[in-house]
Amino acid sequence: MNDSSSYHIPVMGNEVVQWLVTDPYGLYADFTVGGGGHSKLILKQLRETGRLCGIDRDPEAIAEARRTLPDRNELWNIRFSEAESKLFSRFGATFSGVLLDLGVSSHQLDAEARGFSYRSDGPLDFRMSQESGETAAQLLARLSELELKEIFKTLGEDPQAGRIARAVVKARSETTIETTGQLADVIRKSVSATAQKSLPRVFQALRMVVNHELEELSSGLTVAWKFLKPTGRLVVLTYHSLEDRPVKQFMQALVQPPQTFSPLPTAPSPRPQGKYPIRGPLLPTPQEIAENPRSRSAKFRVIEKLV
Ligand SMILES: C[S@@+](CC[C@H](N)C(=O)[O-])C[C@H]1O[C@@H](n2cnc3c(N)ncnc32)[C@H](O)[C@@H]1O
Repeated sequence: MNDSSSYHIPVMGNEVVQWLVTDPYGLYADFTVGGGGHSKLILKQLRETGRLCGIDRDPEAIAEARRTLPDRNELWNIRFSEAESKLFSRFGATFSGVLLDLGVSSHQLDAEARGFSYRSDGPLDFRMSQESGETAAQLLARLSELELKEIFKTLGEDPQAGRIARAVVKARSETTIETTGQLADVIRKSVSATAQKSLPRVFQALRMVVNHELEELSSGLTVAWKFLKPTGRLVVLTYHSLEDRPVKQFMQALVQPPQTFSPLPTAPSPRPQGKYPIRGPLLPTPQEIAENPRSRSAKFRVIEKLV
C-alpha cells in the first residue's frame, strides 16, 4: 500500500502501469488524479525526462496530490471539459498516455460533508467541486416529478423510478429534503422491499446529473484522444454500464470507423485511427476485489493511436 491509500486505493494499478506506460521518457496525463494513487504508480516507471500532468475538478484532490506528488509534475484544478481550452496550446498532441479513472474517490465517498453516500448522514450535496454548481438538494427541490422519474430511470436504471419520484415530491411538499439521511428514508419508505437496490441507483443518478458526468465523459474522451501523439495510449477505468458503454463506443468508432455511403465506388473507406493492444475489457482479479471491494465493478479499456 502507498501513503495515499487512506485517500483512495488505486484500482487495477498493475494493469494501468503495464498498458499505459510504453515510454519511460514520455509525458503522461492523469485526468482523474484524485489522491494521486495511479499518478504515483506511473511516476515510478518514468526516467529523467518523463513527466506527468494531473488534473481533477475537485480542489481537495488537487491539494492532496500537491502534498504527495513530486514538484516537477503539473497539477491543474480543472474539469475534462476545460482541458482543451486551458492545456492544448501548452502541450499539443505530445502525450504518450492519458488515464481516466472515472467516478468518485473513496475520500469523496467517505467525507460526510460532501454528501455522496447513503450510508452516512450529510448535506445532500454530491458536487465533486463544492465551488460551483447546483447541489443535489437544490435539484431535488426544483425538478418536476416527471423529470425526477426520468433521471432515476435513465441514469439509475431503477424500475421503481416512478414510485420514488412520487415519494420525493410528496415528501418535499411537507419539508425540505436537505440531507442524505432524509432522502434515504424517503426511498426506504417508498420501496421498502427493494430499497437496498434503489438506494445506490438513485444516489448514482443524482450524482451524475449534479456533475454532468456523461457530458464531461464525452469531452474527456475527445480531448484525451486529441492530446495523444501517434502510438500514445488512452486507458479508461469505468465502474458502471452507463459510463462504460460510451467509452466502448468511442473506442470502437476509432478502431472501426463507420462506413459512410458514397456514390463513387472508388471513394476510400475511412481509415482506422486506433487499435486495441488487448481485446475486450480487463477486470480486477478476485484477489484485488477481496483486498479492495470498491474495485469490484471496474472495467479497464485501452486503445492505441495509430501513426
Ligand atoms: C476514482 S477517482 C480517481 C482516483 C485516482 N485514480 C487515485 O488513484 O487516487 C476519480 C477522480 O476524478 C475526478 N473527476 C471526475 N470527473 C471529473 C471531470 N469531469 N473532470 C476532472 N476531474 C474529474 C474526481 O473529482 C475524482 O477525484
